[in-house]
Amino acid sequence: PSAQPLRGKKIIVTSGPTHEPIDPVRYLANRSSGRQGHAIAEALSKLGADVVLIRGPVAIPDPVGPKTIQVETARQMLAAVEAQLPSDAAIMVAAVADWRPESEGGEKIKKKVGESTPSFALIENPDILRTVGHHRQRPALVIGFAAETQNLIDNAQAKLARKGADFIVANDVSTETGIMGGTRNQVRLVSKAGVEEWPELDKTQVAERLARRVADFFVNEIIEI
Ligand code: C5P
Repeated sequence: PSAQPLRGKKIIVTSGPTHEPIDPVRYLANRSSGRQGHAIAEALSKLGADVVLIRGPVAIPDPVGPKTIQVETARQMLAAVEAQLPSDAAIMVAAVADWRPESEGGEKIKKKVGESTPSFALIENPDILRTVGHHRQRPALVIGFAAETQNLIDNAQAKLARKGADFIVANDVSTETGIMGGTRNQVRLVSKAGVEEWPELDKTQVAERLARRVADFFVNEIIEI
């Protein structure tokens, strides 16, 4: 078999958190490091794919190989993803903020003596995976991630259908696992065909294994597990 089975395939990968502005100096975010998404982008690139990595704000270096596009908010990430369609595959690894402050306030919210604590309303962000999974230019292969702290498999199976994905890579991000922000990961690959449990691995190994699955899909049209 070719060492570059994904040569000629364009693959979009999202990674990292999004930052949702509260005011010009504050934002709402989450603990995603970008490690898993960046590792997947790099692994696909090593198998010959033309990878476009669309990433939120992270502290780790951009991988060598993929073309990287930097964004901050979920809305920017969605626009960047849609601008890259059509593509052969899309792997949405980013921990997109589900909600954003309704008002981004043009001015810094000031603390004033004697005044009550400010409050702000949240509104829903667009769901990038769901948009891509149901897009008129839907890639042939759409993969999502599901970070859960409970009912991992049930939630992942529901997500497959709702988001229009071919695979959901499910991981338990309960605090004691140390996965969110850490270097190791333990995942289950969920498809319509079933659930496959992978051993605990480094995020780079999870990435390499997933990249080989993507290659299997394109070379042999294998999707079952
Ligand atoms: O629904 P939930 O956030 O758990 O779904 C996780 C999956 O959906 C991940 O693949 C994530 O990248 C994607 N997602 C997205 N846009 C959102 C929320 C989640 O692409 N607004």
